[in-house]
Amino acid sequence: MKTENRRPALWIAPTAQALARRAAEMLCRAAVHDCRQQGYCCMALSGGTTPRALFALLTAQPRAAVFPWRRSHFFWVDERMLAYDHEQSNFGAARRLLFDHVEVPQSNLNPMPVEVVARRAAAKYEKRLRVFFRARGRKEPVFDVVLLGLGADGHTASLFPGASGKGASGRWVRAVQGGEPAVARLTLTETVLNQARRVLFLVSGSAKAPMVKSILESGRTDLPAGRIRPQSGDVTWLLDYRAAALLDEKTVAAMRPPADAEGG
Ligand code: 6PG
Repeated sequence: MKTENRRPALWIAPTAQALARRAAEMLCRAAVHDCRQQGYCCMALSGGTTPRALFALLTAQPRAAVFPWRRSHFFWVDERMLAYDHEQSNFGAARRLLFDHVEVPQSNLNPMPVEVVARRAAAKYEKRLRVFFRARGRKEPVFDVVLLGLGADGHTASLFPGASGKGASGRWVRAVQGGEPAVARLTLTETVLNQARRVLFLVSGSAKAPMVKSILESGRTDLPAGRIRPQSGDVTWLLDYRAAALLDEKTVAAMRPPADAEGG
């Protein structure tokens, strides 16, 4: 059943570390809930530096013992076409900081392929997504959680301003060029991101504050991050004080999660 876009929720943490703790709590709750409800959970993780504190926290007890690693499946929202052991590889960072330290089956990790040219890698990953979701009775790529970052220019995943994010004829994965580092990349398209059940934007630092304000107060559907509004999913903006510093009081009040929000 199509529901109206739900109002995004906003959680503001006093520090980047508190932000990472909140995000870790939310991911863990979502995974426990979904594994109980449907027998598995599938998440698409973002790259960049912001999630690194979160990854490290997920290896700490008691969370690491509670997280249903064996029934959780991990994908990526984007990847730089670099070897996984390159320091700027998104999968490489997640493996170093998180997956090498928890009991997740290797078959539950679905890194984007980087050993072939980007266009072929995009087609290969899209096939992998279709097989995964079809095996779970889904024609569409409905991730239980999508973790996204925000660039100061309004990009998210590797969907950059000015490039079409929808992907040719409803594609789920695209090969693009750009970002920092300016290399060939793969990215999930808006078609996929907007099917998610839960989208968590994780944003830290004063450099992002102007773009956070612009997106949350002016909509900015001209920018990729402003177009992530799943039809029947929840969007939560997890910010630290610095990233939230320019928001109007009324914006913060209007986006405060309902008192009973599980935050999961
Ligand atoms: C990437 C990321 C990208 C990132 C933002 C924020 O591969 O570059 O997926 O979308 O999330 O650029 O990056 P930081 O967390 O490093 O600020």
